[in-house]
Amino acid sequence: MFNRRHFAGLAGAAILALSTAMPSFAQDPIVIKFSHVVAPDTPKGKGAERFKELAEEYTDGAVRVEVYPNSQLYKDKEELEALQLGAVQMLAPSLAKFGPLGVQQFELFDLPMLFNGREDLRKITQGEVGRELLDLLEPKGITGLAYWDNGFKIMSANSPLMVPDDFLGLKMRIQSSKILEAQMQALGAVPQVMAFSEVYQALQTGVVDGTENPPSNMYTQRMNEVQSNATLSNHGYLGYAVIVNKAFWDGLPADIREELDRAMAEATDYANGIAEEENARALQAMMDAGTTDFHELTEDERAEWLEVLRPVHDQMSDRIGADLLQKVYAALGTTN
Ligand code: LMR
Repeated sequence: MFNRRHFAGLAGAAILALSTAMPSFAQDPIVIKFSHVVAPDTPKGKGAERFKELAEEYTDGAVRVEVYPNSQLYKDKEELEALQLGAVQMLAPSLAKFGPLGVQQFELFDLPMLFNGREDLRKITQGEVGRELLDLLEPKGITGLAYWDNGFKIMSANSPLMVPDDFLGLKMRIQSSKILEAQMQALGAVPQVMAFSEVYQALQTGVVDGTENPPSNMYTQRMNEVQSNATLSNHGYLGYAVIVNKAFWDGLPADIREELDRAMAEATDYANGIAEEENARALQAMMDAGTTDFHELTEDERAEWLEVLRPVHDQMSDRIGADLLQKVYAALGTTN
């Protein structure tokens, strides 16, 4: 006959036996904190949520992904430090934000008038150059997992921006990229580096006059409410590298890492699949809101932009590395 104590002892032993026999999936959840600076309703925000769903499903709950959007946990520069320290495990910073880490080669994506659309871009992100760039992160204690799209940028301010002369003296917020600094200077503007979370207020109070963004970022931060003019210039690209703390990633049980790789591959396809449409939707919503006047560049105006912006490539070639830049041109099939 079992008495109660006897039963409890047996049950305890059974649980112990079960837990040692089970694969790593049965242990306490492994938590991945995924911090980012944009709204949930953006290509990156949605991609992060999709990764969470898939990662939790594929690991049967052995991994819990906590997504922190809108700079809730950390702002731009702090989030990279937090990742290196292991305070968060996963980020997707824009490719313009790797300079402060000492991996300024990523700034090649900021070169104005470089890509003729997303197909061009894929030649880099899915090619040898893209892989090489991610490898540069390893010595920094970071592993690069994927490239996620946002989109091509538009310029905005509280005055029309049709030709380069319209930028003269305007204070333009930029991300922390020297290429973007050179781009704004080439246009005659005064670039100001600022964390993404501070841009809306800076525009509202006139600390800066304007900025550049893909439409999804502009709309979800309500910047259109404080920018009377925007030009659909598509002069440059904004996308992300999804990165993890290397020690954390390497320390995961192999079966779990495999499932996370699968979740990331699918989340990447998803994020890259929706980005263009999300931006089109955001642009339409801003047009409907009617607070901003959107201008399409005429051919002559575009030629003027090109004339001042294209020299930025040569000017910044040393920063990116002349060889790397030639590789990019070769992959794109352009001469310079
Ligand atoms: C910005 O700072 O403008 C962007 O990098 C924000 C983002 O992550 O899309």
